[in-house]
Amino acid sequence: MEWRIVVTRSVPEPALDLLREVGEVHVCEQERPLRTSELHEAVRGAHAIVTMVHDRIDGAVADAAGSRLQVVANVAVGYDNVDVDALAQRGVTVTNTPGVLVDATADLTLGLLLMLTRRLGEGERLLRSETPWSWHMSFMLGTGLQGKTLGIVGLGRIGQAVAHRARAFGMEIAYTGRSRADPDVAAALGARYLPLEQLLDEADAVSLHCPLTEATRHLVDEKVLERMKPSAVLINTSRGPVVDEQALARALGRRSIAGAALDVFEHEPKVEPDLLDLDNVVVVPHLGSATTETRTAMAVLAARNVVGMLDGTGPSTPVSA
Ligand code: NDP
Ligand code: DGY
Repeated sequence: MEWRIVVTRSVPEPALDLLREVGEVHVCEQERPLRTSELHEAVRGAHAIVTMVHDRIDGAVADAAGSRLQVVANVAVGYDNVDVDALAQRGVTVTNTPGVLVDATADLTLGLLLMLTRRLGEGERLLRSETPWSWHMSFMLGTGLQGKTLGIVGLGRIGQAVAHRARAFGMEIAYTGRSRADPDVAAALGARYLPLEQLLDEADAVSLHCPLTEATRHLVDEKVLERMKPSAVLINTSRGPVVDEQALARALGRRSIAGAALDVFEHEPKVEPDLLDLDNVVVVPHLGSATTETRTAMAVLAARNVVGMLDGTGPSTPVSA
């Protein structure tokens, strides 16, 4: 049997090589996410679909693919773009790409924290605008990280890697989550568990590393922002809708928090225009996993999951409904 494998956007060659060993591979080469009707058309007759974070994969996509569909391999660890229950009801397995992007995303998180606290974006904009400047003692002062408290929401794989890096910068680590981390893991990171409210009271920087679920949608709302210290900053490299972006723009505008650095947005790829008018905001376009090595590893893992599903050995990283 020749398997039909549809890939919704181009992926690195090593992943395509793996897929071509087991089936006929159709790569959608357009430079934007497929529109719903295009997606439905593209997946027709597919046994496997390799999907990206901006593809919305629901029961209708599975129905458009037809009864031969066995697996949806999302090239991301987050799978909030996939209706896992609807697919499970149709007998379709969903897989993701955990682990391989931990370092890249944690590195980016620290980069954003430094950009914000040392005002690197502002400095860049100043020079690029050719504004005259001169060094003096109080010129563009930021704040140091040493001795400050980083409050991590979700001490999972990426949260732990962020904690590890932040410790190297001399930060104290507090975390919150729906459950407590393994005591040995927390002890090795010097991470104290705090309920959310207490973490907000204490943290100088709050960094989000939880998945987007119904429980975490707008987890950071007006009340949470109000509770943060006025000197604190927010970093979001998880998913945009975990933060109420309009409430964030208001909080930043009235300086009820000191700043925010965002890799992800509530209505990606759109960015709330009010945020772009503010100097105390750093924005980058969903770059968490964006290194050549990491994107290749993600695509290869997704391809291996497809191969494992189709050859009957099983995918290595399925997600549960
Ligand atoms: P993990 O599953 O390893 O960690 C997620 C953590 O969040 C766990 O500690 C989990 O706790 C916790 N959590 C779950 N629900 C809640 C909740 N309601 N409140 C607080 N904490 C909660 O995932 P990863 O670390 O690998 O990835 C985390 C997320 O980061 C992904 O889901 C994805 O959305 C995002 N991401 C973004 C990237 C980017 O490019 N910006 C790149 C990679 C990931 P528990 O163990 O109890 O479930
Ligand atoms: C993920 O893996 O969840 C990211 O958002 C894409 O790198």
